[in-house]
Amino acid sequence: MLARELTLTDYLGDSAFSSAETHTLLALARAGARIASVLARGKRAAFAGHDNVHGEHVRDYDVIANDHFVKELSQVPGCAGVLSEELAEPFRTASHQRADELLVFLDPLDGSANLDAHGLCGSIFGIAPATGGLTAAALQTGQGLRLAGYFLYSSATLMVLAAHERVDAFLYDPALGAFTLIEQNLRCPERGKLYAVNEARARTWSPSAQSWLDQLKSQSTADGGPRYSLRYTGALVADAHRVLLEGGVFAYPADAASPQGKLRLQYEANPMSFVFRAAGGAATTGRTSPLDVEPPHPHARVPLVLGSRHEVERFEAAERSARPSD
Ligand code: F6P
Repeated sequence: MLARELTLTDYLGDSAFSSAETHTLLALARAGARIASVLARGKRAAFAGHDNVHGEHVRDYDVIANDHFVKELSQVPGCAGVLSEELAEPFRTASHQRADELLVFLDPLDGSANLDAHGLCGSIFGIAPATGGLTAAALQTGQGLRLAGYFLYSSATLMVLAAHERVDAFLYDPALGAFTLIEQNLRCPERGKLYAVNEARARTWSPSAQSWLDQLKSQSTADGGPRYSLRYTGALVADAHRVLLEGGVFAYPADAASPQGKLRLQYEANPMSFVFRAAGGAATTGRTSPLDVEPPHPHARVPLVLGSRHEVERFEAAERSARPSD
């Protein structure tokens, strides 16, 4: 007889999660499952902000995803609020203040530009104490994160959770209506064979970032073929997830269009950096870990390079050697 699968609820009950953390994670999981079912309906489900042929007002996928998360998190007594890409200010979800309150950093639908083509996308979350009130908590560095992870909406729906210095993965089972544990203690390989970058933009990167990429691409296997392959979907969650499993590097350095970097510190770079650190990988802005960056405002952007230690360290070394000594 097969052993019963471990659901997310079982897993959280068996491990050292506080009640507020457990309920917040379960609320995120419920919202993730709902979003997966909206996305599975494809273009029947939503169109960007106009009335459909039935005279119904239909909304953007990003707004729908944000609404699902906010609705679920609003039921959790220990969750004080959400800093979401879709909301200008941190949003208070709980009416009563408690000592152990949490703030959720959220990118409700990462890579949603892919959805016109029914492509890959995800949701990213980080969970930190809401100490000092929401406005102050929204400006804490990523070192304050206690938990982080993401949902990947693909041929199946996956939830990846980094907690207590390990990373576990859960697959959504629609028949069961639950996420079940499928992979334990994921480790990002020390060195990999793939790179994920928007290569068309590389000619507008800094010279040091360009030479790092050229150097990476010039490496060969024993039989003389290229060591690295390019894999890029345009959705951070999907690209980073593959790098996490197979090793290699995802890079979105500063470029001409985004001199500060494109990705958002609080709800893209930090949660993903937290996941990679817990899996034995690495992340950098080129100067420092994103987790150490003091956000000037809640929606700040940073350059982001993450993946296997080897490739990320090479990027940092290239940036360092291009800087006057500091
Ligand atoms: O931040 C949104 C996002 O879609 C990320 O998920 C992705 O990594 C990046 O932007 C893609 O940007 P570009 O279309 O410039 O390659």
